[in-house]
Amino acid sequence: MAHRSALYVPAANRRALAKTLDLQADIVIADLEDAVGPEEKDNARQNLRHHFQMLKGSAKPVIRINMTSSEWFADDLALCLELQPRAILLPKVNSPADIRDLDQFLDDADCDPELKIWAMIETPRGILNITAIAELGLTPARRLEAFVVGTNDLAKETGVALTPFREHMHPWLMQIVLAARAAGLIALDGVSNDFRDLDALEEQCRQSVNMGFDGRTIIHPAQVDTANRVFSPSKDEVASARAIVDAFEREENRNKGVIALNGKMVERLHRDMALRLLARATQTTNGES
Ligand code: COA
Ligand code: MG
Repeated sequence: MAHRSALYVPAANRRALAKTLDLQADIVIADLEDAVGPEEKDNARQNLRHHFQMLKGSAKPVIRINMTSSEWFADDLALCLELQPRAILLPKVNSPADIRDLDQFLDDADCDPELKIWAMIETPRGILNITAIAELGLTPARRLEAFVVGTNDLAKETGVALTPFREHMHPWLMQIVLAARAAGLIALDGVSNDFRDLDALEEQCRQSVNMGFDGRTIIHPAQVDTANRVFSPSKDEVASARAIVDAFEREENRNKGVIALNGKMVERLHRDMALRLLARATQTTNGES
């Protein structure tokens, strides 16, 4: 499954929820947390019940719930047990205990072990504890499946400027990607608030690709195509990958660990990378966009 674009939708906005059914976002994140005001929470949950009935063949959204310590958590959890979303996105994860607490609530409710937990990394403590949080992804029967970066909250909590290229946050972002890779987790980058500037979004998505992220969270339908395109392998990348795979298949190279191809050293690890890219290319061209 591709994770190029993950579109947030405030669950209080029924019209926007319905609109997601016609969009090509790889993932929809229906939000019950900060994009929904305190007075709108009940209504937002009702909207989600209605929306899940309308899904038909469409993939289930991820649901972002309120923190386990909040007054809304019990109702959010009950809703997730009822609807069985693609995953539960837990906001403001500070430490492994936050994930373990949710895990325990799910186990106590005899929840399907396949219901995954995604973690928002958006607080100073979350970043400082990222290694320990990621380790939960290595435990058997793990539910933790993804890290989702929250750059708006990080800027708020740290006072670090949120510039378009977030240069002051790079050490943190790279640490999140590294921890995700060490534990086999999906890593999704933060949002671009300026949803009218698609040229800037394109460059920002390129940066996310180069940093190693699997995709980008987005906030507006106009951003879907850009994220999908930039996170899909290009024709040139596919051609280079195919050339590497083909080269190792030639009789004279079958048993070699390293070869020269167009003046460059190519090792078997490059073949592994090429196969991964080709698999991703197949995934993203099969009808998605
Ligand atoms: N998902 C699905 N549809 C959306 C959408 C979204 N995230 N954002 C906007 N739309 C829809 C609107 O409902 C509107 O549909 P309509 O033409 O049928 O009425 C259409 O897209 C055009 O919207 P537009 O007028 O350009 O934007 P807006 O001013 O209504 O909304 C935001 C702007 C930022 C408030 C809105 O995009 C939004 O709520 N985004 C998500 C915010 C969020 O969840 N934040 C939390 C995580 S960071
Ligand atoms: Mg947040």
